[in-house]
Amino acid sequence: MVITRGEGAYVFNDHGQRYINGFSSLWNVAIGHGREELVAAATTQMRELAFASCFRQVHPRAIELAAKLVEITSGKYDHVYLGSNGSEATETALKMARQYHKQSPYTKDQGRHKIISLKGSYHGVSYGAISTSGQENDAAKYGPLIPGFRQIDPPYCYRCPYEKTEYPECGLECAEALEHAIKSEGVDSVAAFILEPIMGVKGIIVPPEEFYQRVGEICQQYNILFIADEVTTGFGRTGKLFASEDWDYSPDILCLGKAISSGYLPLSATLATDTIYQRFKGKGNQFEHGSTASGHPVCAAVGLANIDIILKERLPENAAKIGSYLMSGLRKLEEHRKQIGNIRGKGLMIGIELVKDRKKKTPYSDNETFDIILDFATMGLLSYYTRNILGIYPPLIIDQAIADQIISIIDKGLSTGFTANITRRARLAKMYATGKLT
Ligand SMILES: Cc1ncc(COP(=O)(O)O)c(C=O)c1O
Repeated sequence: MVITRGEGAYVFNDHGQRYINGFSSLWNVAIGHGREELVAAATTQMRELAFASCFRQVHPRAIELAAKLVEITSGKYDHVYLGSNGSEATETALKMARQYHKQSPYTKDQGRHKIISLKGSYHGVSYGAISTSGQENDAAKYGPLIPGFRQIDPPYCYRCPYEKTEYPECGLECAEALEHAIKSEGVDSVAAFILEPIMGVKGIIVPPEEFYQRVGEICQQYNILFIADEVTTGFGRTGKLFASEDWDYSPDILCLGKAISSGYLPLSATLATDTIYQRFKGKGNQFEHGSTASGHPVCAAVGLANIDIILKERLPENAAKIGSYLMSGLRKLEEHRKQIGNIRGKGLMIGIELVKDRKKKTPYSDNETFDIILDFATMGLLSYYTRNILGIYPPLIIDQAIADQIISIIDKGLSTGFTANITRRARLAKMYATGKLT
């Protein structure tokens, strides 16, 4: 689909069809399209200083953005590396974690280099990121991936990979798996554990709260850096400014992207605690990392204006409020839409898992799920899907009226036979050109 225009929570295609931007363009346009404040910030900055790098120099917007990020993370992080995308944010975190240990004053820690992550996670496109994610497809296509990366099964309660039936009777085996992996890899070889607080690409996988507590505790116990990849969950998506903001064991490194600039310009950040920063002091110890556009002044100016809107308009609170309204509306559909196997999520990050049989949890195929997505689009809602899971990630500015429309479209789209006798080609053609089925 060719998207030509955006306005608030809507986007338009080249036939003028209007759609609810149900996955926020790519999970990033938190404040919606068309905000003049960001246009003004970019224009002013480009006039004043189009470019200065953050390599052996710096500029005011990078300093201000770094200070703002430190402020809004409540002083948990003291230092900021600015990048251009989420992949750079996670790659930076991985390199930082390895160098941190190599520069340890304790010889036994200097060999720590292994990275543990959740199987099926998504951390970006670079080799470090795909080695972390450990997707079979990546290994087959671009392998061999980098050695020293290990994945543990994710906290996917609906289809528990540990074959447990329910939390808390499961004993949180998914978290204990981290300790088993550390021991089997060799305690002194592990540098870091990285997770997405809610796994997006895997299908909006929400662990029990206690999971964060336990893995954080394990990291601390074994002197392993705890990295939170909040590229998707950061800046209000889950109903809090950051999903990890109230964890008992605060991550050592925080990766941010996407909604940091609401997608208006490419921007990301990797935040580190002062303990980490101190290891990089002294001759020859600095973090020699960065690309030309890292911390670009125009992107930083836009990021600042965007964060200002997120805070002033209390968008995390709105995501919590409208998210729970949307969630309860969707849960009501469970009674009569038997394809709904599981609904889960937090704030405005919601996943609906489609099954053919609730008891057996037989998943819809990719193709069947895609057909449903097309039906939604025909009715004016763009949404995301992965395998048999629908993803709803609307902009954080939506109100109850838009939430009602989303619920109504999903309800209709799940009514079997809605498009049963229309071929996909015909459906696509109609959806694209007219936005209507009949
Ligand atoms: C959790 C997470 N980390 C990292 C990335 C990579 O971000 P980018 O696509 O900006 O490189 C993504 C992208 O979807 C993501 O969801």
